[in-house]
This record gives sequence, C-alpha cells and structure tokens, in this order.
Amino acid sequence: MQNWEEKIQNVSSLDELEKVRIELFGKKGYFAAEFEKLKNLPNEEKPKVAKELNVAKNRLQGLLQARKDELLAQAIEEQLKNEKIDVSLYGYRASKGALHPVKQTLDQIIEYFLSLNYAIETGPLIEEDFYNFEALNLPKHHPARDMQDTFYFADGTLLRTHTSPVQIRTMQKQKPPIRMISPGAVFRRDFDLTHTPMFHQVEGLVVDEAGKVSFANLKFILQDFLHYMFGDVKVRFRPSFFPFTEPSAEVDISCIFCQGEGCRVCSHTGWLEVLGCGMVDPNVFEAVGYENVSGYAFGLGVERFAMLLYRIGDLRSLFEGDLRLLEQFK
Ligand code: PHE
Repeated sequence: MQNWEEKIQNVSSLDELEKVRIELFGKKGYFAAEFEKLKNLPNEEKPKVAKELNVAKNRLQGLLQARKDELLAQAIEEQLKNEKIDVSLYGYRASKGALHPVKQTLDQIIEYFLSLNYAIETGPLIEEDFYNFEALNLPKHHPARDMQDTFYFADGTLLRTHTSPVQIRTMQKQKPPIRMISPGAVFRRDFDLTHTPMFHQVEGLVVDEAGKVSFANLKFILQDFLHYMFGDVKVRFRPSFFPFTEPSAEVDISCIFCQGEGCRVCSHTGWLEVLGCGMVDPNVFEAVGYENVSGYAFGLGVERFAMLLYRIGDLRSLFEGDLRLLEQFK
C-alpha cells in the first residue's frame, strides 16, 4: 500500500494520474485482481481480507482525488500565468478612410439640386462629334471649337470636353419639362498649374413651355446655390459667350480669400469665376426637335469648387494621392 501512496504523490501530470487510476481500479487493475483472489481463501478469512481491501481502496481513492484536485489547481494557475493579457498595452487602431475632397464637393453640389427635385443624368465619356459639338451649335470649323482642346480617336469619336452633350442626350430621350443635372468626368488637352487633362463638371439643364423658364429663374437658382456652397458671398453675372446659350453669362463670387479686397488668388480683382450659364440657344432646341420651349443651362468645374472650398492651392495635388493631403479630409 505504501508503494501506491508514493506513486500517487509522485505523479506530475493529470495524464500520469489517470494511468495510475487505471492500474489501481481498472478492470484488470490491482483491486480487481485482489478481489478475484478472495475466491481462493478459506471462508472464515474472506470477510476480514475483504474489509481490509475496501478500506485500502477507499483510502487510495481519496488520495487520488486529492492529487487530482491539486494538479487541476496547478494547471489553472499555470494557464493564468501564461495567458495573462496586459490591458494597459496600446492596441492597433484601425485607420479610417475618407472620401476624396473632389467627391465630397460633388456630393454637396448634388445634394443641393436633389433637394430641388433635379434628376441626375449621365452620358458616355467617349462621345460623338454630334453630341459634343454639332448639336450644341458648334458646327465644324466654328472657331469656338478651339476654346476646348479635344482628344480625338482615329474614327472621329472623341473624349467629351464638357458635360453639355448630356443636355442633348436627355432632350432626345424625353419630352419637356426637364430639370436635370449631370455630373461626370471631362477631358481636355491641357496640363499646367490650373489645368489637368481630366477633371469633373456638373451640368444643369431646365426646359419647359416657352415663357415658363426665364433668366431671372436662372439667376435666382445659381445665387441660392452659390450661397449654399460658399456661404455669405457676393454673386455677380458677367455677360459672356457660349455657342449653346444666348444670352450667356459667367458667374463670379466675391473672393473668399480676401473678401473682395483683392489678392493674388483673384488676381487683385476681388472676384472669382465659378460658373458658365445662359438661356438655351434656339439652335440647340432645333437640333433635338423641340418647339415652343425655353430653358436655361449651366456648367461648373468640380475641382475648382473643391479648391475654393478647401483652400487647396495647386490643382494637381488633387490627383497625386498624397496621404498628407488626403488625411486632412477625414
Ligand atoms: N460647357 C461649358 C464649359 O465647359 C459650360 C456651360 C454649360 C456654359 C452650360 C453654359 C451652359 O465651359
């Protein structure tokens, strides 16, 4: 018995202890064998030996259980020591992304016109001459085509130089009244401090029965829109020329950098040009077969708006993907 007690005390793992338990109490174990031997004893000795065996069995079972508890406690202790987490350590913070400033600006522009129930229309980036020029009152060899340096493909198609072709496509596919904007990329052969070969415009077009849409309506909407975008600025309309509008105007806001005092950004004029607009030219309506209607149209550059809103000095920095710039727009 002494032997077994030592064996139990000396095991150092739960696995070993389980082996000892089987050696002792298993079907082929020590006690099974000892009880088996009882058969061969004289009857008068049986009760005494059986009693001794039972006492020993109970005692060893108790010791086994105690050792098991000890080892379990040790194992838990060990686990706690090894798996400890230091809650004071700094973790990794997932870094947040943000929308590009041009996209944020575009969203803000779209939000304004959606609130007035303008529909959003789109058109292809690769355009036909008819939509980009011809139908917009820019016939071949018209000098005003030189206003926009165009990327041409060999088959005569081109990368659209403005979003105005979407005016034509929209008027072709539906009848007036029309009230729409068209945001999207446009392309010109131009690359310097203030020009990139690709940039974004938002076109606007409103058409209804003749007499229902006036220049006064156009002025009101654009004034309201520019106050929405830039806050408390002065707005002025300057006579200008576009082949597809008559009369035409360019719209300026008072310089947001110098409040109209005159500075480098506004070339000391106190004004910043932000929009082109006008009443749709009758030749444009003729090209799409509209009769007895009037309408206004406008177009703006999204990057220019973004630069003014976020005071970004160099247009090209909007296209360089530099995180030091982009991370400021979270
Ligand atoms: N399409 C003109 C441009 O790209 C802008 C414009 C649109 C002007 C609609 C008047 C009316 O410069």
